[in-house]
Amino acid sequence: MEEEAILSHLQDHEEIADSGQFAAEKGLDHDKVVNVIKSLHGYGYIVAQDIKRETLVLTEEGETYAAVGSPEIHLFMAIPPEGISREALEQRLDTSVFKIGCAQASKLKWVEYDKKKKIFSRQVQHVEDRVKDVLIQIKDGQAPGPEDVRALKTRKLIAPQIWKGYSVKKGPNYAPKRKTFATDFTRENMQRGDWKDLEFKGYNFSAKGQPLEGGHLHPLLKVRQQFKMIFQQMGFEEMPTNNFVESSFWNFDALFQPQQHPARDSHDTFFLRVPATTKELPEDYVERVKKVHELGGYGSRGYAYDWKREEANKNLLRTHTTAVSSRMLYLLAQKPFQPKKYFSIDRVFRNEAVDKTHLAEFHQIEGLVCDRGLTLGDLIGVLHDFFSRLGMSNLRFKPAYNPYTEPSMEIFSYHEGFKKWVEIGNSGIFRPEMLLPMGLPEDVSVIAWGLSLERPTMILYGVDNIRDLFGHKVDLGLIKRNPICRLGIY
Ligand code: PHE
Repeated sequence: MEEEAILSHLQDHEEIADSGQFAAEKGLDHDKVVNVIKSLHGYGYIVAQDIKRETLVLTEEGETYAAVGSPEIHLFMAIPPEGISREALEQRLDTSVFKIGCAQASKLKWVEYDKKKKIFSRQVQHVEDRVKDVLIQIKDGQAPGPEDVRALKTRKLIAPQIWKGYSVKKGPNYAPKRKTFATDFTRENMQRGDWKDLEFKGYNFSAKGQPLEGGHLHPLLKVRQQFKMIFQQMGFEEMPTNNFVESSFWNFDALFQPQQHPARDSHDTFFLRVPATTKELPEDYVERVKKVHELGGYGSRGYAYDWKREEANKNLLRTHTTAVSSRMLYLLAQKPFQPKKYFSIDRVFRNEAVDKTHLAEFHQIEGLVCDRGLTLGDLIGVLHDFFSRLGMSNLRFKPAYNPYTEPSMEIFSYHEGFKKWVEIGNSGIFRPEMLLPMGLPEDVSVIAWGLSLERPTMILYGVDNIRDLFGHKVDLGLIKRNPICRLGIY
C-alpha cells in the first residue's frame, strides 16, 4: 500500500517533499512509509534524502492537562464568588492540583490568599485555560509562539523531539511498479521459453551464510592448549601420556615412595581388578629399586623394610603424571646422556571424596628439566619464567615434602583479585634415590614441578564448583559459548 502510494505519486509529481506530510495526507503510517522508502532507495527506484526537524511533544503531565485542563483552572473553578477557606479548598482538590494551581493562579493574579483569615478569593470574573489551549495546538501539529513554548518547557509540559523523515525523488531505476526478479531458472522456464524475458535477481556476495554447526572446545582444552604453547615456547618436549593404567612400580616405587606409604592405600588410589598386575618390568632396574628401598645406597640409608614385588606389580589408575616422568627419565638413562626439557598435561585419578573443588579425576600439568649440575636456583628461575608467562610474576615458595623430591617447594602466587597468596603448584629436585638406580650420571639433576589444570581454568572461567566444569552435570551451553583463552596477555 505504502509502496504503491509512493511510486504512483512520483509518476506525476516531481518529488515527495516531506514523508511525514505525505503519510498524513494519505492516511498512512509514517514508520511503514519510512521502511518502504529505505527499501526502494536500496534498489534505486527512488532517491531519498534525510530530513530532521525538531518538534515538540507533550509530556505525560502535558497530556493530562490537554485532556482535563490545567491545575490553575481547576483551582479557580473550585473557589466560589464569595471566597473559600483554605481547608475547604484543599478538600475539594488533589494535593498536586492544589499546590500547582495555587502557584500558577496567584502568578496570573486570578486568585488571592488572605493569610490572616486563611481565605482564598477570586480576583477576576472570568479566566481562560491558555495552557490547555496551547497544549492542544501542539498536539495538532501547529507551532505556538515562542513565549508559550518557553513557559510550557519550564513547566515540563512539553519536550523537544527530533523527528526524522525523508524527501523523495525518482531514482535511476524508477518504475511505477516494482519489478519482481526471478530467483531460479527452472525446467518450466525452459519449456515455456519465458526465460528469455525474465530478469534474474543478482547474487548477493556479501550475504552472511548460515552459522556453521561444529564442535566446541571445553574450557579445559582451551587452557591446556595455552599451557602447551608456553611449554613449547620454552623449548619443552611433550611426554607420551596415553596410558591411564600404570603399574604401582612406575607410579610409586620408581619414585622412591615406600610401599607402606598412605597414598598407596586403596582409599587414595584406584587399583585395577582386571588386569590386576603388570606383565613386565625391567628386571635389573627393579632389583636396584628394591635395593634402594630396603638398604639405601648412593649415600642414602633407604627405608629398611621388606620390599615386595607383588606390591610393585599391582595395576592402578595413575595418581599423578610423575609416573610418566619416571618412565621417561628411565628411558633417557638407557642412552648416552643428553639434557632434556619435558612436559605433560593429562588426566590422573585419585580415590577421593568428591566435593566443590575435588573430583576423582583431574588433570595435571607437569614440567621437568634434566641436566648436569642443576640447582634449586635453576628451579626457582624456571618457575619464575614459566609462571610469568601466565601473568604471575609475584611468586613465593614454601618448603614442603614429597617422597621423590628433596628439597621440595610449594609455589604460591599473589592473586590480585582475591587479594591473597594462593597455592598454585608443587615442585622440587628429584632425589638421587630415584635418579641413580635408573642409571643417570651422578652429576645430573632433575628439577620438576606440577600443578592442576582445573584450578587455573576455574579461576579464568569464573567457575566455583568443579562439577560445573567437568562431568555429567556440565551445562552444554557453557561448552558452546565459552570464550577463547589467552594466557599471560593483559
Ligand atoms: N606429582 C606431584 C603431585 O602430584 C607434583 C610434583 C611434580 C611435585 C613434580 C614435584 C615435582 O602433586
